[in-house]
Amino acid sequence: MIRTKMTLMGCIAWLTAAGMACSAEPASPPRQNNAPLQDKVQPVIDRVEKACLERTVYMIGRVKAERLAELVRRAKPKVVVECGTALGYSGLWIARELQTAGSGKLITIEISPQRAREAEATFREAGLADIVTVKVGDATKVVHQIKGPVDFVFIDCGYSNYLPCLSGLEDELSKGATIVADNVGIGASGLGDYLKHVQTKYTSRTEWFDIELPWAPRDAMEISVVAK
Ligand SMILES: C[S@@+](CC[C@H](N)C(=O)[O-])C[C@H]1O[C@@H](n2cnc3c(N)ncnc32)[C@H](O)[C@@H]1O
Repeated sequence: MIRTKMTLMGCIAWLTAAGMACSAEPASPPRQNNAPLQDKVQPVIDRVEKACLERTVYMIGRVKAERLAELVRRAKPKVVVECGTALGYSGLWIARELQTAGSGKLITIEISPQRAREAEATFREAGLADIVTVKVGDATKVVHQIKGPVDFVFIDCGYSNYLPCLSGLEDELSKGATIVADNVGIGASGLGDYLKHVQTKYTSRTEWFDIELPWAPRDAMEISVVAK
């Protein structure tokens, strides 16, 4: 039997060369992204993203979702309203930021009861059920039931609904609130009324993204901020 012996000095030299610490514990696997080490949400995001792509359920996609999450992180909202839940993909990105911040709730509205149920199960699976309320119904009507202050709005539910959704929330918006609208690149022709409204009333900018979604290689989000 051949036995391999490694002296302590040899161990240190080898591990130093490999850029590792000398420890009795096995080395942890390299991190895939900037998510926290204990991130239980990322595997759920990955699963839902795959399901959306396989079933052609339209969703924001990773590139815009990263930007959306960054905007939530900076805004530190106490209340977020999302119009258009689908399977909960964008909601997962928003709610993970709220969970990490240690405060904030997401109310997300979906017209399809089946999708709303599926999203609810997904938020439970991700450990976000305490943070997220899924409301079933027409967002243009449901928004009128929401009492503010609302600090952050994400609109993604059919172009003709964008302006009615925002109008229904406007009296409840806090000073400095952020409003993000998806698809203002690919949907620009159907969103003229919305874009004219936010660009007249708020500080508003259009941000473009190269995206990797099968239905659009490039798209934009409109980011509008209420005066403080
Ligand atoms: C583009 S998908 C939302 C994607 C989701 N925000 C994401 O990125 O994961 C649009 C969703 O809005 C829903 N929807 C359409 N009209 C609506 C309305 N009036 N009220 C609420 N939801 C609506 C659709 O059923 C669909 O699930």
